[in-house]
Amino acid sequence: MTEPSGCRLAGKYFYSSLGKCKKYVTPKWYGFYIGMNMKRDGSNISLWQSAIPDFKEKQTAFSDRKFDVVVVGGGITGLSTALKILESGKSCLLAEAQEIGFGTSGGTTAHLNNFFDTPYYQVEKDFGAASAQLLAKGANDAISLIVENIRKYSIDCSFSKREGFLFALDEKQKDELEKIVESAKKVGVPMDFTNTSPFPVPYISIASVENQAQFNPAAYMQGLASVFENAGGVILQHCRVTEISGDEELEVKTSRGIVKASAAVYATHIPPGVNILHFRCAPYRSYALGLKLKGEYPEALGYDLHDPYRYYRTQEVDGQKYLIAGGEDHKTGHEENTNACFAHLESYVRKFFDVEEVAFKWSSQYFEPADGVAYIGHLPGNPENVFVATGFGGNGMIYGSLSALVLADLIRGKKTEYAKLFDPSRIKPVAGFSNFVKEAADVVGHFIGDKAKIEKIDSFSDLATGEARVVRHDGHVLALYKDEQQRLHAVNSACTHIKCTVAWNASEKSWDCPCHGSRFSYDGTMLTGPARKDLEVIKLA
Ligand code: FES
Repeated sequence: MTEPSGCRLAGKYFYSSLGKCKKYVTPKWYGFYIGMNMKRDGSNISLWQSAIPDFKEKQTAFSDRKFDVVVVGGGITGLSTALKILESGKSCLLAEAQEIGFGTSGGTTAHLNNFFDTPYYQVEKDFGAASAQLLAKGANDAISLIVENIRKYSIDCSFSKREGFLFALDEKQKDELEKIVESAKKVGVPMDFTNTSPFPVPYISIASVENQAQFNPAAYMQGLASVFENAGGVILQHCRVTEISGDEELEVKTSRGIVKASAAVYATHIPPGVNILHFRCAPYRSYALGLKLKGEYPEALGYDLHDPYRYYRTQEVDGQKYLIAGGEDHKTGHEENTNACFAHLESYVRKFFDVEEVAFKWSSQYFEPADGVAYIGHLPGNPENVFVATGFGGNGMIYGSLSALVLADLIRGKKTEYAKLFDPSRIKPVAGFSNFVKEAADVVGHFIGDKAKIEKIDSFSDLATGEARVVRHDGHVLALYKDEQQRLHAVNSACTHIKCTVAWNASEKSWDCPCHGSRFSYDGTMLTGPARKDLEVIKLA
């Protein structure tokens, strides 16, 4: 195709799926973010966004090119994988529907651990001792890759090694901690009991583990993106991949045109469309605070064993230290008052830390795998050359980096020791069955039950400013939100994935789907998949 003069100018134009040069229309939800830096999938600002500007992609020609690999998604998984692929000598295009770090990677609290949310004793029980050992090796390989990238490419991202501490708050947690420590030692992770803690949180038992780490994830991702582009990779932001078809040669349809590729990777946190993995991964939200303290900041990583667990660390940004505290996790779309989650977390933290100010608060999403281990490899139900990485639980930075190593090998047809453990097609009847049934039943419950409970209203006048509700009105089931300027936003409440009823997330001003975690802005604009389309906007008479 001959490129029309001016097409691609400053990202204002793109090629349609028919190959026409069209004007790019800025997404309507951008009103949310006017004047801000790096953008995210919610209305709260994460600590990382505050200091990192938007990534400006190079305007590289891409149409009519065939790439060895197209990577979909510009978070840590997509960027790490794309760079690794490029380093292996293959050409690579990375397509991001929004902007670099827009999704969960821009809202992580970025703990780099060689232990996981699923303890090693559980992995040993469900997958065998060798698999537990291999998982520990995977975590160390992931940290080594991050360290190597930072060193090799001089990425300035405040990386530092930290000691980690796990503390038990009661007798039940103490028993759990003993099992965690014993199984960690067995797989070579040097965790052991201690009697001192840098955290002012009372405990009855505590263990420490050396050589954990932390960094600024946004700075790291932007570093990876620059290195990737400078080495010849192509990044397209505001480029949604709408379909991947074909066999040996894939046709990748995007909102900025069509490209051909020999392989594709969905690094989109959860793959889009309808896939078996949506029934094996459950969406959760976690809450984080960035706090200025009056006293000392703990220079360590900390975790209690409460369910859901709370986590702590310190990060300096622009010369100011912050305690980052997180917790209050719940299943996406299952919490009626998400503002209360922040309030509970803050009041808990204030019991132990001398807080001067809550400077940042934000929430983020993660996907819990049914059997406790991530899915990295061939995407079930797709051609052999389409790959996926998902189900990272709360260990996204580690699994995202490890995915780069696993996927780069698989794409090159190289044997990898991790293939079987992370195989997305695995069926683990012992480990995964009960969770699988629970999550599937939960989805069915929301599909049927939520619709039966929806109230009918005749007038919108009783909706208060800032209030949102799902209601029946005039033959429609509406998700309604009245904004601060009293404007009413009405969208169809049926999620465009497989039609569960969305639920209001007041703290992020989003409609969140309780079934598989799709999220939409208050005006229906899609923020995160697996849905592929916005909620339908309903015009009110
Ligand atoms: Fe599956 Fe909404 S995400 S129905």
